[in-house]
Amino acid sequence: MDYSRFIAKASEVFKASEIRELLKVVEARKVISFAGGYPDPQTFPRESLARIAYEVILNYGDKALQYSPTKGVTAFRETLVRYLKSNGVKVDSEDDIIITTGSQQGLDLVSRTLIDPEDYIVTENPTYLAALTAFRTARPNIIGIPIDGKGMKTEVLEERLKELKSLGKRVKFVYTIPIAHNPAGTTMSPDRKKHLLELASEYDFIVIEDDPYSFFVYDEADVTRLKTLDQEGRVIYMSTLSKILSPGLRVGWILGPRQLVDVFERAKQSMDLHTSTLSQYIAKEALERGVVGETIDKAKRVYRVKRDAMLSALSENMVENSWWAKPVGGLFLMVWLPPGIDTKAMLPEAVDEGVVYVPGASFFVDESGKNTMRLNFSYPSVDEIKTGVGILGRLVKKKVGKT
Ligand SMILES: Cc1ncc(COP(=O)(O)O)c(C=O)c1O
Repeated sequence: MDYSRFIAKASEVFKASEIRELLKVVEARKVISFAGGYPDPQTFPRESLARIAYEVILNYGDKALQYSPTKGVTAFRETLVRYLKSNGVKVDSEDDIIITTGSQQGLDLVSRTLIDPEDYIVTENPTYLAALTAFRTARPNIIGIPIDGKGMKTEVLEERLKELKSLGKRVKFVYTIPIAHNPAGTTMSPDRKKHLLELASEYDFIVIEDDPYSFFVYDEADVTRLKTLDQEGRVIYMSTLSKILSPGLRVGWILGPRQLVDVFERAKQSMDLHTSTLSQYIAKEALERGVVGETIDKAKRVYRVKRDAMLSALSENMVENSWWAKPVGGLFLMVWLPPGIDTKAMLPEAVDEGVVYVPGASFFVDESGKNTMRLNFSYPSVDEIKTGVGILGRLVKKKVGKT
């Protein structure tokens, strides 16, 4: 039976990605994958979490296995707020935080509760693909702002804001990943952060700061959050334990003005009632016992080596006129190849040679970026990184010869 007639029009935004389809095929074969966004499982604190889970269920099972408040388990929220404050994130009140089922739910909540169809919203171009998908469900106009080694080009944003204003239109929010951007690997400079907040004030918009990576940077870097710099309550900050403890627990949070957090809470109630109570109890203990801190230390050690291996392999193998930012953190970097090289068209050849990556175009608001590819360095081994980048370098050289 063909079920298409039963499917709502609105679900057309959830397009099956050709790339995901390809990755499914790839999974079955032995190829070096730069495509996923998985943490290295050796960073997972398995024994500590096993002990915590056992104790939590045994000692607090009455509560930990029960339903819990939509906004999150109070004791966990208190622990989390202390942790955030001690890491330099400004929290005005404990009521300003809501626990989410990963940051992905935070993005979905923002989309459902803040965007009306035809609203103007802004993202970096490129930006996190799953954020684009979440926002697109609400059918806004999305404006993409280019980035360079210092993050979003806020001078371009200012131009766009002026243009829109002259047309009597305004932007509702700007979504940004300031630190260790996914996919671009860039970090916003202090000047640009300041400029962005000035623009938010001048043009009266909100900033959505998506920050999964600032807790584990590999180099000296200014990780001051927009949330901390914000004097006007214009920043909605979201983050997650996915990369600093375990993505499988599905624990994230949104920190924002109380009035908006209340709206998120009401929307979340109809989505999943609450984030897993058990995960929240485990996360609380992991924070209090220093397990998150240990995971971060390990992640930094493991990923710094892998990032450096990828950077040297790229310098050795990539053709002239390619560009990539050195990521101070995170799991990704993006390579801009010379114009004319189509990374989507090149992918099947790369797979045949034994490497897979994500062609960059889908991270771009306007599907430009055909000459880009996103490379993940957290999951493959150092040897795979060397071999895989070598293969990509050879393929790209062949293509350059032909363009
Ligand atoms: C920028 C960004 N935002 C959100 C997420 C989603 O994270 P979570 O696992 O908490 O849903 C990711 C995951 O990779 C990400 O890179």
